[in-house]
Amino acid sequence: MSFPARRPRRLRSSAAVRRLMAETHLVPSQLVLPMFVREGIADPQPITSMPGQEQHTLDSLRRAAAEAAEAGIGGLMLFGVPAVRDAVGSGADDPEGILNVATAAVAEEVGDALVVQTDLCLDEFTDHGHCGVLTPGGAVDNDRTLERYRAMGLAQARAGSHLLGLSGMMDGQVEAVRDALDAEGFTDTLILAYSAKYAGAFYGPFREAVDSQLTGDRRTYQMDPPNAREGLVEALLDVEEGADVVMVKPALPYLDVLADVRQAVDVPVWAYQVSGEYSMVEAAAGNGWIDRRATILDSLMAIRRAGADAILTYWAVEAAGWIRSGL
Ligand code: PBG
Repeated sequence: MSFPARRPRRLRSSAAVRRLMAETHLVPSQLVLPMFVREGIADPQPITSMPGQEQHTLDSLRRAAAEAAEAGIGGLMLFGVPAVRDAVGSGADDPEGILNVATAAVAEEVGDALVVQTDLCLDEFTDHGHCGVLTPGGAVDNDRTLERYRAMGLAQARAGSHLLGLSGMMDGQVEAVRDALDAEGFTDTLILAYSAKYAGAFYGPFREAVDSQLTGDRRTYQMDPPNAREGLVEALLDVEEGADVVMVKPALPYLDVLADVRQAVDVPVWAYQVSGEYSMVEAAAGNGWIDRRATILDSLMAIRRAGADAILTYWAVEAAGWIRSGL
């Protein structure tokens, strides 16, 4: 009798065996690149809190979008940084607003080579930095915000966005935007619901990326980090309201929620590897403390393994290049 009877190490005995036995795969079409476009700048501006990322001009955005299409990734998620802001975020649904102008330019540039997506939220456009409009007392007014989201959704669809990323965490936002889209004939425009979007520190570097005006926090609308069951409730509600895709965000710190949501719904589930996750790896790699490429690939594989069908990641184009060259 031989001992041990089971030798799981056989499954790891060579690179060829490991390749054949891999349970999870990463392909470029599963990656979505978030991009920032800023109004009124002559040259792209580096985002110091996110080394390697920049705020684009319209021209540099077009070029980068074409490169991303060339790299074979699945989509782009556009964020706009306006020059002027007000209390209701008027730039968000203005056809001449930076995000809508950029969306039209990118849609023209890439056509159907990838899915052009837009962040649907007011925080970049309001002078107080909140994701919605405020009551006289300063609270975020859920139902008046829904009216703004309906207008913003229509403006984005008209500009040529294929998929709207509803990231504001207002109750009823999916149903409200779906209704507005359908009433105007945009029945093919997809809705991605940022369903389980947790408040917290991991969005820190993004504040610089969009020149955020926020003081305080988003804890009355984004989810509370201790709560996992509630993430499921949010995802199920969004599916009921008509979300085509649901998302968990941030990614690595919330893999438990991601795995739960994957089990509970039958629509695609995405994850957003957010700015803080990006910057931590870049900082450690910049100091020579970790192997940058291996860490990025480990993190993306972990997010896939936990159940993400696609991943929003600032490394989308670079990782697609590594994948194409054989990992
Ligand atoms: C809201 C929005 C945010 C992010 C994506 N959409 C900011 C926030 O909720 O505070 C953060 C993404 C990241 O940190 O990479 N428009």
